[in-house]
Order: sequence, then structure tokens, then C-alpha cells
Amino acid sequence: MILIQFTGLSGSGKTTLAQNVGHLLTRRGFSVEIIDGDVYRKTLCKDLGFSKEDRCENVKRLFNVGQDFVRLKTIVLMSVINPYEDLRNEIGQHEFVKTVFLNCSIDNLIKRDPKGLYKKALLPDSDSNKINNFTGISDVFEIPLKADLILKTDLESVSVSTDKLYSFIMENIPDA
Ligand code: PPS
Ligand code: MG
Repeated sequence: MILIQFTGLSGSGKTTLAQNVGHLLTRRGFSVEIIDGDVYRKTLCKDLGFSKEDRCENVKRLFNVGQDFVRLKTIVLMSVINPYEDLRNEIGQHEFVKTVFLNCSIDNLIKRDPKGLYKKALLPDSDSNKINNFTGISDVFEIPLKADLILKTDLESVSVSTDKLYSFIMENIPDA
């Protein structure tokens, strides 16, 4: 089967696209599992924060979960920020993995800010509500150099990105 490792900043569309494409694939009769960072950070990864070490541990744990689903002939959509090139490349070496970069400009994300997280990340240091180590603002996001698919989620509509991702997955499912 196939495992999509998403990579992209907070608000770039990882969760939305995983859900949309998940619905389409399920309707087509495939077994699908969405492994979402935000969700797993409340359960399996609730001991982890946002240091480099913790983010890498987070992604590794979720990939391990994903591998179990792949063995069960399930399409896995791993929607995590996944900010480090080395770890993405390590995971991407597996034949069943495809890397999808949701590319959206930081200006656009700050404008959209559906969860209000960018606003909090941009607060002055003196403000107790400030979020530190926020990806793209005060923490690193390494631009993927080896993505199998890039979706410009600030330039195209959700439905166009959904269609492109769905087609990409259908083309890359072994024996589909
Ligand atoms: S990572 O870097 O891959 O381990 O991150 P991930 O597990 O995907 O978690 C990202 C979600 O955590 C929320 N959040 C933060 N993101 C980035 N930086 C900081 N400091 C941070 N604090 C909380 C945020 O809701 C992310 O969800 P998405 O879906 O990406 O917006
Ligand atoms: Mg999300």
C-alpha cells in the first residue's frame, strides 16, 4: 500500500486535504487511516513538545503507527508538519512512502490563521500567551527538496488541491 507523508506549516491544509482525500478514497472502497499530529499529540505523543528532538520523536512514532496500517493494506495519510529534511528523506526511502509538500506562503498563513496560533506566536516576549518555537515564525521549517508532489495551497482552491492529491495517490497505489 501507500503512505503519504505530508509536510507543511501549520494551517497549510494538511488536515483538510487528508480528510477530503480520505473521504474520496473510502468511497472508492479503500481502507484509509489518517494519522494527524494534532490528534496524536493528545494521545500516543502527549509527552512530547516542540523541540527538535521531540518533533523527530513525534514523527518517528507516527510513522511506526503508519507502517502497521500499511501492512494491513491501508492507505495512510500522515498529516504532520514534519519540518526536518533528514528525517523526511529517511522516511521517504521506503518504497511505499510518497512525500507531499503543502506549500503556502507565511504571509498567507498569518492572514488565514484559523486557529489564532500565528497571532499568539507573534506576540511580544513579555506576553504570557505567546507561543514559542512556532514553526515558520520562531522555529525552523526546512524546505523539502525531494517532494514527490507539491501543492501550492495558497494559489489553488481546496477542491483543486484535493483533486490533484487524489489523482496522485490513485496513480501511485501499487496495482490499483
Ligand atoms: S511536528 O513538528 O511534525 O512534530 O508537528 P505536529 O505533530 O504536526 O503538530 C503540529 C500541531 O501542533 C500545534 N502547535 C504547533 N505547531 C507548530 N509549532 C508549535 N510551537 C506548535 N504548538 C502547537 C498546531 O495546532 C499544529 O497543527 P497544524 O495542523 O499543523 O496546524
Ligand atoms: Mg492540522
